[in-house]
Amino acid sequence: MSKKNNSDRLDFAVIGHQDSWLNIKAFINGMRSISVGELSMEHIKDTFCYIPPRSVFKMKVRSKKGDTIHGVYIETFLDPEKLGPQYIRGNIKKVNEAIAVAQKLNAKIIALGGFTSIVLEGNLNPFNTTETKITTGNSLTSAFIIKGLENASKELNIDIKASQLLIIGATGDIGRACTNYFKGKVKGLLLCARNKKRLELFSKEISKEGIAVKYSTDLNHLIPEADIIISVASSKEIVIENHKKSVLICDAGYPKNLEQKIDVKAGVSLFHGGMGQIEEGYDFHPDYTKYFYKYPAPHIGHGCVLEAIVLAFENIFKNYSIGKGNITTDKIDQIYAMSVKHGIELAPFYNSQGLWGRNQKNIVL
Ligand SMILES: NC(=O)c1ccc[n+]([C@@H]2O[C@H](COP(=O)([O-])OP(=O)(O)OC[C@H]3O[C@@H](n4cnc5c(N)ncnc54)[C@H](OP(=O)(O)O)[C@@H]3O)[C@@H](O)[C@H]2O)c1
Repeated sequence: MSKKNNSDRLDFAVIGHQDSWLNIKAFINGMRSISVGELSMEHIKDTFCYIPPRSVFKMKVRSKKGDTIHGVYIETFLDPEKLGPQYIRGNIKKVNEAIAVAQKLNAKIIALGGFTSIVLEGNLNPFNTTETKITTGNSLTSAFIIKGLENASKELNIDIKASQLLIIGATGDIGRACTNYFKGKVKGLLLCARNKKRLELFSKEISKEGIAVKYSTDLNHLIPEADIIISVASSKEIVIENHKKSVLICDAGYPKNLEQKIDVKAGVSLFHGGMGQIEEGYDFHPDYTKYFYKYPAPHIGHGCVLEAIVLAFENIFKNYSIGKGNITTDKIDQIYAMSVKHGIELAPFYNSQGLWGRNQKNIVL
């Protein structure tokens, strides 16, 4: 059964960016015909960011309820090393151009794959959304982070109620959602971000509710106490030292915040968080998956992208997750329930070493 019967509109569009030059090289050369040969990294770095945003492949996604929806992936061609606030003007311009492409394609809803931190910095909302609606996807991303931590804790026999939870990036959109969800469910909260004023204000709000909170802009003051860590900072610069030997870490940043600097073999359980898996699968046309699909199990996707897909399955075409600090626990529960209904569940646990945990036994690649 297709939901596109009497409409020529695309159900969804995903606006994305790549997280490293290595991935960009694989992606660009994968799209080129073999006869024209591979482009060098130097050539790609010289030209990539001058390419205007454009649709790169079509997507077809299936729900376990029987529906099929159609979408498109639009690449923004952003420099993965220039995502910080100092590049915000140029990045907003490109994201707006990508939105215009999605609108021209008549997409009903757009997923801003991991872009909130780039374009909504300082509570900016530069988008003029008309017919096409937008979601940052941060509600479902938060849901997958939370469910992931709850499930991983069970598997590792970690008592969440007796644990100190460190949230790196606590004042961000996802960080706030996770803090608000876990307050009262853990022994104590350890909150970290760079902007002291914002962090202090948020931490005080939480402690007024009688919740045990310690906050610092210096991670070193918090790490030794943490039993569980969620990292949702938009930064690759984070170094985790002096952590507890068996700490559980959910690294949900894009690009990854922590992994390169932590030895996942040394007793630390780290998983890439905020990820879901589509039970009924999807198809890309042209099929470029082998050039940029980096996951150790099939049909894994970012929560932010999957949120727009879930909304399209549900025929909910409105600006769903938007702005910063608006994600409530009810909203997290609501989007997660809708997601599960369509067979989009939490992804199995994995990190750069591959899959871990109970779920990996069920994976057939
Ligand atoms: N897995 C997925 O599907 C998925 C989906 C959406 C987003 N994401 C990723 O999740 C991350 C968070 O997204 P968001 O929308 O919540 O971003 P956001 O609203 O911009 O929040 C980022 C937070 O990180 C803090 N921060 C930045 N650099 C830091 C550092 N070096 N040390 C400590 N704190 C730092 C920021 O506060 P200060 O500026 O005060 O430091 C802020 O609290 C991003 O990397 C995003 O790409 C992943």
